Amino acid sequence: MVKEFNSDRTEDIEIELLLEGILKRFGYDFREYNRAHVKRRLLHRVASLHLSSISQLQHKILHEDLFFQVILQDLSINVTEMFRDPTFYKTLRAEVIPILKTYPYLKIWHAGCSTGEEVYSVAILLLEEGLLERTQIYATDFNPQVIEVAKKGIYPVSRIKEYTYNYQVAGGKHSFSNYYTARYDSVIFDSDLKKNIVFAEHNLVTDHVFAEVNLIICRNVLIYFNKQLQNRVVKLFNESLIKGGYLGLGSKENLMFTDVFDAFEIVDSKEKIYHKKVQ
Ligand SMILES: C[S@@+](CC[C@H](N)C(=O)[O-])C[C@H]1O[C@@H](n2cnc3c(N)ncnc32)[C@H](O)[C@@H]1O
Repeated sequence: MVKEFNSDRTEDIEIELLLEGILKRFGYDFREYNRAHVKRRLLHRVASLHLSSISQLQHKILHEDLFFQVILQDLSINVTEMFRDPTFYKTLRAEVIPILKTYPYLKIWHAGCSTGEEVYSVAILLLEEGLLERTQIYATDFNPQVIEVAKKGIYPVSRIKEYTYNYQVAGGKHSFSNYYTARYDSVIFDSDLKKNIVFAEHNLVTDHVFAEVNLIICRNVLIYFNKQLQNRVVKLFNESLIKGGYLGLGSKENLMFTDVFDAFEIVDSKEKIYHKKVQ
């Protein structure tokens, strides 16, 4: 029993040292990520490489430049899909878009956009609502590899059936196939959709605010952070939004118990859509 406790504790110390090392060596700060998630992912990598400890993994990370990229992929879960949680998009269309239409020019920030499926989904929605032309979209993620995929807008054809279904449930107005061209086993989304999208690297833990944004969509990212970091990141969102701006979070995320809770009104509690108060 004592032995088990000690090895668990040692592992926790090793993780702390590793995360400090990663921050110093590569500038990525994972210290306030959900520790259970980080531990699970690191131990999985230790096992798959047949290493005996996290300290051995640390040695490999610090001494083999390219290996850090593998760990970055391990620690950033990039699962996403088009019109993910379609009712979120349906509510966005019904409750938020009519207000956004009253602005002459719009800025939207997708934080943690992964490989871009969410961004193209919103671009399609804006196009159908006549807003795409006057919107600047910033699509950011801290993982450079996913940003490169997002820029291309090419996805496996095997997922199109599911995406078409999501699009319809989300209130899509046309045929989903209007927006892409199929090529062998992939589809490429129309380049017109990305005319007003800037894809860029941005780390929510260490980078700055985006000024004067009308809508921030940051879905399924905060769940990987501990409470303190969630709190800091939602403050960053609050500072980035204009008064009267909107914030959309993931279904398991919310503003409750954060310092900015009183600065927002709930637009839809199930879809986690918030409106920044004007006063
Ligand atoms: C599960 S995906 C969510 C993708 C998309 N928003 C969605 O809901 O389908 C989480 C994304 O957050 C990104 N991420 C994690 N930590 C981040 C950070 N500190 N700054 C920016 N992006 C981060 C990951 O790289 C990953 O692409």
